Amino acid sequence: MCGIIGYIGEREALPLLLDGLRMMEYRGYDSAGVAVRGPAGIRSIRAVGKVASLEAKLRQISMPGTLGGAHERWATHGGVTEANAHPHTDCAGRFWVIHNGIIENYQELKTELLLKGHVFRSETDTEVIAHLLEDIAADQDVETAISQMAARFMGTYGLIILDNHAPDKLIAVRNFSPLVLGIGEKEYFAASDPAAFLKHTDQVVYLADGETAILTRTGYRVYDRRQNLRQKQVETVDWKPEEAQKSGHPHFMLKEILEEPEAVRNSIRGRLIPTEGLAKLGGLEAVRSQLEHAARVVIAACGTSYFSAKTGEYMLEECAGIPVEVDYASEFRYRAAPLGPQDVFIAVSQSGETADTLAALREARKQGALTLGIVNIVGSTIARESDAGVYQHIGPEISVASTKAFLSQITIFALLALFIGRAKNMPLAAGLEIAAELQRIPQKIQTILDQRERIRQLAEKHKDSGNIFYLGRKYNFPAALEGALKLKETAYIHAEGCGAGELKHGPLALVSPDFPTVAIAPRDSVYAKMLSNIEEVKARGGPVIAIGTEGDENLRKVAAEVIYVPETLEMLTPLLTTVPLQLFAYYASVARGNDVDHPRNLAKSVTVE
Ligand code: M6R
Repeated sequence: MCGIIGYIGEREALPLLLDGLRMMEYRGYDSAGVAVRGPAGIRSIRAVGKVASLEAKLRQISMPGTLGGAHERWATHGGVTEANAHPHTDCAGRFWVIHNGIIENYQELKTELLLKGHVFRSETDTEVIAHLLEDIAADQDVETAISQMAARFMGTYGLIILDNHAPDKLIAVRNFSPLVLGIGEKEYFAASDPAAFLKHTDQVVYLADGETAILTRTGYRVYDRRQNLRQKQVETVDWKPEEAQKSGHPHFMLKEILEEPEAVRNSIRGRLIPTEGLAKLGGLEAVRSQLEHAARVVIAACGTSYFSAKTGEYMLEECAGIPVEVDYASEFRYRAAPLGPQDVFIAVSQSGETADTLAALREARKQGALTLGIVNIVGSTIARESDAGVYQHIGPEISVASTKAFLSQITIFALLALFIGRAKNMPLAAGLEIAAELQRIPQKIQTILDQRERIRQLAEKHKDSGNIFYLGRKYNFPAALEGALKLKETAYIHAEGCGAGELKHGPLALVSPDFPTVAIAPRDSVYAKMLSNIEEVKARGGPVIAIGTEGDENLRKVAAEVIYVPETLEMLTPLLTTVPLQLFAYYASVARGNDVDHPRNLAKSVTVE
């Protein structure tokens, strides 16, 4: 949610900043802006639209300088206008502020500053930062002013600040919104995501909440809220820059779907002992006993990660016999949900930065539960703040619509179910079967990917539907919810995911000949029930597209169209049934001429509430 980047070094800042914005474009794309310190002071250019619009504007303009900052916006306060695009400055043009987050008490601060005579030029919450800093820094050094200013804010922020009085200083401040420093050779970066500078350095320092970094051309210092100097660890990011490229694919979404066999392989690599039917999760060894004796598992997540958590709920209950509750992180954080030391809390988040999931994790910690993270981004806030966890190891997921992360999270839940289940009552034979089948999943996913031309044709055929139902039961109920979310966010078609058993309790009233239903009906323990539900839809004239198990000719009799997936264990079916749903949404989005990787109104990493 908003991407920010700052640079100080010996190279021209502008191309590095623009490239950094492009690498983070999934974070926000309604407007963009840049500020560079040149010989005559700081100059800023802003534009409505994607980074390309800013670049087009900059073609006519020269902005020399080796210190600068840039922003891509996902609007929260104030419409999508050039005046509201960042950077924002104060009355005298001393401080130039680039912000990711929300200053919740900005109205109150703005009123105070207006009374003092400050003149505001935008409708944003961010502009108060520049004016407040101008006010406080008038009679003291910037470091002290920042610490005093931060004490007045309620809300979240990752800030890059340029000071016209300090030609050799880039300031980065963090509170809740992600911010990481890139440590290069005589040059330094600060950005929301290391992907922004990975081409130049893989050495990073993660800022913690309340920390301020002062970057110069010769080094950096990090302070805490009380201005105590902090010793920070330099870590290495293990991604290759090319992993964050489209590599010849038309969209990141398609590239990431095609990477799913590898994603599942990477998530299980080194984590299975197939001959003993065991899972080996190094990150959880230290808390193994607590996990085995947990009274309850509570999982919180958002969006697609929430649906993978729902799948995990079924797996953990079936394989390990532990009661599991799954909640939207945005609900959990405000519920009075009692947790205690006997409970295990799991935060599921691809980015590891989702604000609600992070807040839920912090709440669970406060209440004394053991906290675990299932996270993709190494070193992300959720990963760092959990007591223990499991990394997804799937490389960067750039498309706003999450795909490979979903499959990887389900894979990790299967490993977790095996890890705890085998330590409890799960028989060896069941463990052996799950371990063996998990290893076969990548190849089975590949056979579905190989059918993508047929799925493309199907998506073309249904691309103008106004509404689509997604039905599933048991393990494929979360898959139905995920299929509907994918279609909504990429194709902008209204889709509703529904537990097929719930249909006759209301939603069935919507079914009509122009309201297609996608029914997920693999041959599992609820197959017969699914068939009856499909018949109910068919009887009301609703066209049905079924996802079924290879060789199931029965399905052809009830569904107008069938996409087949290979047979697998019931608990692993979502690893296969979701794939055609993702491809269907992708091709429907392409057919409708949408900006697939950047759906309107959305951003990849939701770091505001
Ligand atoms: O990074 P996270 O897994 O915490 O993100 C959670 C959701 O914001 C994310 O899954 C979102 O729903 C995607 N757009 C779904 O495709």
